[in-house]
Amino acid sequence: MAKVLIIGAGGVGSVVVHKCAQLPEVFTEIVLASRTEEKCKAIAAQLNRPIKTAQVDADNVPELVALLNKERPDLVVNVALPYQDLTIMDACLEAGVDYMDTANYEPPETAKFEYSWQWAYQEKFTNANRMALLGSGFDPGVTNVYTAYLKKHYFDEIHTLDIIDCNAGDHGMPFATNFNPEINIREVTAKGRYWQDGEWRETDPLSESRVFNFPAEIGPKKIYLMYHEELESITKHLPEIKRARFWMTFSDNYLKHLEVLGNVGMTGIEPVMHEGHEIIPLQFLKTLLPDPASLGPLTKGKTCIGCLATGVKDGKTRRLFIYNICDHEACYAEVKSQAISYTTGVPAMIGAKMILEGKWRKPGVWNMEQFDPDPFMEDLNLYGLPWQVSDAEGANADTMKD
Ligand SMILES: NC(=O)c1ccc[n+]([C@@H]2O[C@H](COP(=O)([O-])OP(=O)(O)OC[C@H]3O[C@@H](n4cnc5c(N)ncnc54)[C@H](OP(=O)(O)O)[C@@H]3O)[C@@H](O)[C@H]2O)c1
Repeated sequence: MAKVLIIGAGGVGSVVVHKCAQLPEVFTEIVLASRTEEKCKAIAAQLNRPIKTAQVDADNVPELVALLNKERPDLVVNVALPYQDLTIMDACLEAGVDYMDTANYEPPETAKFEYSWQWAYQEKFTNANRMALLGSGFDPGVTNVYTAYLKKHYFDEIHTLDIIDCNAGDHGMPFATNFNPEINIREVTAKGRYWQDGEWRETDPLSESRVFNFPAEIGPKKIYLMYHEELESITKHLPEIKRARFWMTFSDNYLKHLEVLGNVGMTGIEPVMHEGHEIIPLQFLKTLLPDPASLGPLTKGKTCIGCLATGVKDGKTRRLFIYNICDHEACYAEVKSQAISYTTGVPAMIGAKMILEGKWRKPGVWNMEQFDPDPFMEDLNLYGLPWQVSDAEGANADTMKD
């Protein structure tokens, strides 16, 4: 018997609501709140059980606290934007409610994300006997749990970790991002960074690439090294890891568009004056680009996200790839969203379920790899994101060696 308040009625929020609504025995009451209440109502109309909706500005702590005091949920699931993480955490502390999100805090004025701001809440949440679970999406989220699972069941020590995110789907549009365009482009145009021998090493944006051969008929795709937030927490919590990197696939078409947009200044986040108005180029670009939610009915093909790990077990070297394959069209048939929102929304629902069932509940601020991975991994198989572990010898092992 639990009541959940979901904040953010975008692509991911829609999937979280659909998946929570499928489990009335866990999520007895659901409230969906967002900046634009019509979007909450449109999602509510797709469900076969009633939920409540509300309007809230999640940048405004008193407004959030008033909503929390009115609804008295057991848990807040934040699937608005990373800019709102701290205000929602503040409101949860004030109202005495547990907190969960899928992306770490990012200040709007700098394209920089790191856990320091949210980890700084450790004492406040502990003292309030409340918990905050950070990053319960796919990456971060499932990738952290995969790493913890490999460590628990397959390795005595993990030495190298490559997190690899492939979207082999095609939406047929000339250029679109598959989640919030502003957040996506900030992430992709940032410098690459990876962990090696106890320190961070930086690379120019998208300057390192390899060709990785993906399973499930996806085949070979070019992957690019990027910085991603789970690298920070995983290397902190598994300090034995000597090298940790994150890779993502991009089509040549996507990269060409991004290059041109960058060259003309459209991906900038500094305000510029336009005919007497101050605008931020990237926010204006977001207005022009397709809404990621509109890609749902158009996207065909599969995603494959996984962790390639090497290490030792009983003195022997081992190399394994643990991954999920998700089909865009199957996701749309189930919850009216493409696989990117689906692969984020399902783990968000499972993270919430772990907290509400008491399987992952302790006061403080936690990353996903800090809990027992087993119940979460079981639920991935049950609720739409089945996974496999395979030997990663052969061509891929050579490709990722250095
Ligand atoms: N961990 C992962 O694997 C992963 C993967 C993808 C995305 N994510 C994260 O998931 C989150 C949601 O992504 P998305 O693709 O669903 O984004 P989206 O489609 O842009 O949705 C964001 C929603 O948040 C609402 N919102 C924004 N600012 C708000 C505010 N101040 N107050 C209340 N509501 C506000 C928006 O309202 P409006 O509709 O009024 O604009 C929108 O409904 C992001 O934090 C993203 O980084 C995580």
